[in-house]
Amino acid sequence: MPDAKTATLVVDKDFVISEIDPRLYGSFVEHLGRCVYGGIFEKGHPTADRDGFRQDVLDLVKELGVSIVRYPGGNFVSGYNWEDGVGPVEKRPRKLELAWRTIEPNWVGVNEFARWASKVGTAVNMSVNLGTRGPDEARALVEYCNHPSGSYWSDMRISHGQKEPHRIKLWCLGNEMDGPWQICHKTAAEYGRAAVEAAKVMRWVDPDIELVACGSSHPRMPTFPDYDATVLEHAYEQVNYVSLHSYYGNQENDTANFLAKSLEMDSYIKSVVAVCDTTRARKRSKKTLNLSFDEWNVWYHSHENDRKITPWTIAPPQVEDSYTFEDALLAGCLVMTLMKHADRVKVACLAQLVNVIAPIMTVTGGPAWRQTIFYPFLHASRYGRGRSLQTILRSPRYDTKEYTDVPLLECSAAHNPEKGELSIFAVNRDQSADLALECDLRSFDGLSGVTHTVMDSRDLKAVNTKDAQPVKPREAAGAKLDKGRLSVKLPPLSWNVLRMSAR
Ligand code: AHR
Repeated sequence: MPDAKTATLVVDKDFVISEIDPRLYGSFVEHLGRCVYGGIFEKGHPTADRDGFRQDVLDLVKELGVSIVRYPGGNFVSGYNWEDGVGPVEKRPRKLELAWRTIEPNWVGVNEFARWASKVGTAVNMSVNLGTRGPDEARALVEYCNHPSGSYWSDMRISHGQKEPHRIKLWCLGNEMDGPWQICHKTAAEYGRAAVEAAKVMRWVDPDIELVACGSSHPRMPTFPDYDATVLEHAYEQVNYVSLHSYYGNQENDTANFLAKSLEMDSYIKSVVAVCDTTRARKRSKKTLNLSFDEWNVWYHSHENDRKITPWTIAPPQVEDSYTFEDALLAGCLVMTLMKHADRVKVACLAQLVNVIAPIMTVTGGPAWRQTIFYPFLHASRYGRGRSLQTILRSPRYDTKEYTDVPLLECSAAHNPEKGELSIFAVNRDQSADLALECDLRSFDGLSGVTHTVMDSRDLKAVNTKDAQPVKPREAAGAKLDKGRLSVKLPPLSWNVLRMSAR
């Protein structure tokens, strides 16, 4: 790559892509590995509260500002009997959990999770089992969670000590039903029909709920996008969102190519939007279907370790990726990509939240700490609120093994008129040179007080551990704002947040 580089950016307050749905900054807690047990919940931990929830983890989750949390799976949900997780804990069964080959003790179930979510101040996105089970159990769960009282399941909830309904608004109709690895995987037609009937009866119990139908479990599935199209052919009018999942890795240790993988997320989103809109046209529908990107992250470090795990134990250290600085850069590019699609992506979940491919790690019985990917998510969730703005970008570009025309600069912008703030997020993908960024922001009146937060590192493979967390953001000097023009140098391989007051 050449040396001295400049990128130019125009951000206009009237070029609004969309209001950003707060649920864009969601996450995911699955009964998998140490996400629940040893993660959010650990009886006897020095920081555990009366309910057994780790306060150190609660504090970090609150810091992240997660707006909604998907639960209880994931692959787990396709074999889960939710009734096993309610009522007196000592009477709950221990069961073989077939998705991850563990023992599920059911110490935490829907009531405990909803209590944890309310302590965090986050909403719950509940998934129902459309693998081994179907509409009957799904409607019973909606009744248990959301019906006030005076029926079999709602009165059972009250008898379990939960008088107030949980009022869970967003529900996933199963998980990754296209995947042969799924417990009771279904063809698109089988799943489409099951989703329609589950949706119908769930809504008859609570007409206010919103529903997510499963799309493909990633865009490299041989059945993508036909699976999505067939599901929507059946369920378009019954659901509010279609789901997308995708994980990215750097198995080839090719940084330039790895950092371009957000382009793949971008094209995946565009393809699913096209499927939704084609279905709308075919059905002569007036309804626009939106997207729930309810699993996204980097995932590849733990694959080898996971092959060595002994089956049928409780909460083994499974799927525990230790994230590098380089991973944080891609996580930043991914969250910016979601922001740029805020007109159609209304829900997104960083998968997952604690220990399992997570921004937060814990030692069972020990401390909790922030992984490298914590920070881009934190900044986006904290400052990427309000309106997502179109960015008109001119940037030098490069080619990689899999992608062409990759801009050295990846960026997104959010204007929060309520708070009077403009935030620009940017990754410089250049591996060796600063990128001089010139922004034309003249449409904003009275811009002032620019701050520049940077996360960079001399070591691409640097990780945070329980003992040391070298990868963290710092405040940088040198950004200049003059008459609506912002000039700043972005260090090579860096995550950047530029914030200004904007009337
Ligand atoms: O997040 C880990 C797993 O990835 C989930 O259980 C599944 O839905 C996906 O394949």
